[in-house]
Amino acid sequence: MDYFELLRYRKSTRKFTDEQISQNDLTNILTAANSAPVGSNLYRDIHLTVIQNRGALDKLSEAAAKRWGDKAKVKKIVGDTPTVELSQRMYDPFYGAPTVIFVSHRKQDIQPGIEFSNVACITYSMHLAATNLGLGSVFMWFALESMREIPELDNTSVLNLPDDFEPLLGIAIGHPVKELSARDLKTDRITVNYL
Ligand SMILES: Cc1cc2nc3c(=O)[nH]c(=O)nc-3n(C[C@H](O)[C@H](O)[C@H](O)COP(=O)(O)O)c2cc1C
Repeated sequence: MDYFELLRYRKSTRKFTDEQISQNDLTNILTAANSAPVGSNLYRDIHLTVIQNRGALDKLSEAAAKRWGDKAKVKKIVGDTPTVELSQRMYDPFYGAPTVIFVSHRKQDIQPGIEFSNVACITYSMHLAATNLGLGSVFMWFALESMREIPELDNTSVLNLPDDFEPLLGIAIGHPVKELSARDLKTDRITVNYL
């Protein structure tokens, strides 16, 4: 697909069918991750975890479900977004997606802050690849933030990460309930100044 046409189809999907993505699609999405730029070429500082196991995802959901009950905090993050069902009792931050990929980074002291940029590049590359494959996807930040905020519900040990790595971002991927459709491209969502 032409790049700007691809951008027209890119959006966050929050309703997935139960159907798992194919191995071929997963391979293509991991190839996209590996094709993303990384600061100082330090690919060894990145680690991906593919989760296709509902039990592991449910365990990781616990903190988000608890955090979702904090309506004031949720409102601060998402505002009055009408699509957000605040009364939902068992909130699943992964929206039932059958595949979630976490992007972890080696803890940084030499280039502090670069880890956030790196994981964003990698996650966005996977998001675009999923879109190009007709799959739905959405970034996953809230679940991890919840686990940092509620240490007793920090289940990131289930990710079985190498020593000194921490999960910073993720992406939920699956078949969208409603086929992806094109939107008009926006040019004024972000302010710009010119010097
Ligand atoms: C760094 C980052 C973290 C995000 N985390 C979440 C998340 O945890 N849950 C969620 O539903 N959406 C998440 N999103 C999706 C944004 O809400 C979404 O991209 C934004 O509202 C614009 O909508 P669009 O992607 O459909 O254009 C995240 C996006 C980014 C870039």
